Amino acid sequence: MDLYRRTVKVHSQTYAYLIVLGVVAGLLTSADGIAARSEARSPASADTIIIDGMTVADIGPLPTVVPIPATNLNYTAKVELGKQLYFDGRLSKNNSISCAFCHNPFTGFADPRQTSIGVAGGIGGRQSPTIFNTGLIPLQFWDGRAGSLEEQALGPIINPVEMAETHENVVKKLGKIKGYQQQFRAVFGTEVNLQGIAEAIAAYERTVVSTDSAFDKYVLGDTTAMEEAAVRGMALFKGKARCILCHNGPNFTDNLFHNLGVPQAGPMKEDLGRFSVTRQEKDKGAFKTPTLRSISETAPYMHDGVFTTLEEVMDFLDQGGGHNPNLSPLLKPLGLSTDEKGELVAFLKALTGAPIKFEMPKLPK
Ligand code: HEC
Ligand code: HEC
Repeated sequence: MDLYRRTVKVHSQTYAYLIVLGVVAGLLTSADGIAARSEARSPASADTIIIDGMTVADIGPLPTVVPIPATNLNYTAKVELGKQLYFDGRLSKNNSISCAFCHNPFTGFADPRQTSIGVAGGIGGRQSPTIFNTGLIPLQFWDGRAGSLEEQALGPIINPVEMAETHENVVKKLGKIKGYQQQFRAVFGTEVNLQGIAEAIAAYERTVVSTDSAFDKYVLGDTTAMEEAAVRGMALFKGKARCILCHNGPNFTDNLFHNLGVPQAGPMKEDLGRFSVTRQEKDKGAFKTPTLRSISETAPYMHDGVFTTLEEVMDFLDQGGGHNPNLSPLLKPLGLSTDEKGELVAFLKALTGAPIKFEMPKLPK
């Protein structure tokens, strides 16, 4: 199937990139307390799994840190600056809503609200995804409308239901802050500007990595790292429960879009998902396959946050998803027992990354 040939290709490209950048990875750790643990591991094997006649990339340990685009230079110096910007409410109209307001480090860099609330209580239509491992995904947002973290970073600032500010005002406001003036001069050799804000925030985001989970330890050889239920859950994940058809590769996503027939919830009447980007019928109601790493920390679930627990997600998938004319042909009723659903949840919990050492940055005055 074409779909899967593409999947495998995406992954092998990612690996190539990671090998080249393994050296850069070492630098990142010293740049930031939260930085990825970045021992340059050998990239995960390009093993594949054949399920129902389809070949997909196996799940495996997360190779090393995240690829850095060649266009974002002078990287390590930007991380510390980007971290400050990420936590700075002055990027918003009322000076109080930072990126972390909806991508909170204490709730898995995601938002525990069903859908996000921005400046002046404006309610957004979608659940806020985690920032964990966004540096590993080629397309940002549930519908994949942004291509890079640099491209994505300036969007929330002007989104009326998020930070509701203008780009001009942000540059003006931050440009008056001495600490930012100094850092921009040191890092970019310029005054505060939008391009620099985007590059710095993206640089910081790439250090937010979920890895070193019980699952990683287990597949790297520590057979005691996962409890028995989780080991059985992993077998189901790759077999009877068919999860690996879409959640595959080291980051547990094919980076493609599928319609699971998730019930519409939240303020939107109908969310057409990927269709709003491609205008192709087949993409109606399709959303990006999210990573499952650290999934136990990032409830609620799905693009509209309709499910509050992993158990609810399992019941939903066990039925073969929801009802939708455009439902993915990869879904079907699974006939899982209560025990099996519990084992899948135990496996998902084993994907929680090792705790990261986190310190709030000091914001410049
Ligand atoms: C008011 C809440 C809110 C704020 C503030 C906010 N975001 Fe988001 N963010 C969201 C929501 C909701 C989505 C999903 C939107 C969609 O898919 O259409 C999202 C998506 C993202 C994504 C894509 C992740 C993925 O897996 O596709 C990234 C990256 C991101 N935000 C970074 C940021 C950065 C950087 C800032 C600050 C400049 C920020 N966000 C501010 C709510 C917010
Ligand atoms: C056909 C591809 C496909 C299959 C098969 C599949 N998923 Fe997913 N999964 C997705 C997509 C796409 C989403 C997001 C859907 C949405 O929000 O509308 C998702 C969402 C999820 C979520 C919520 C993630 C979040 O951040 O909100 C979990 C948990 C999950 N899947 C686990 C599983 C498990 C476990 C299995 C196997 C029982 C499985 N999935 C099978 C594609 C798939």
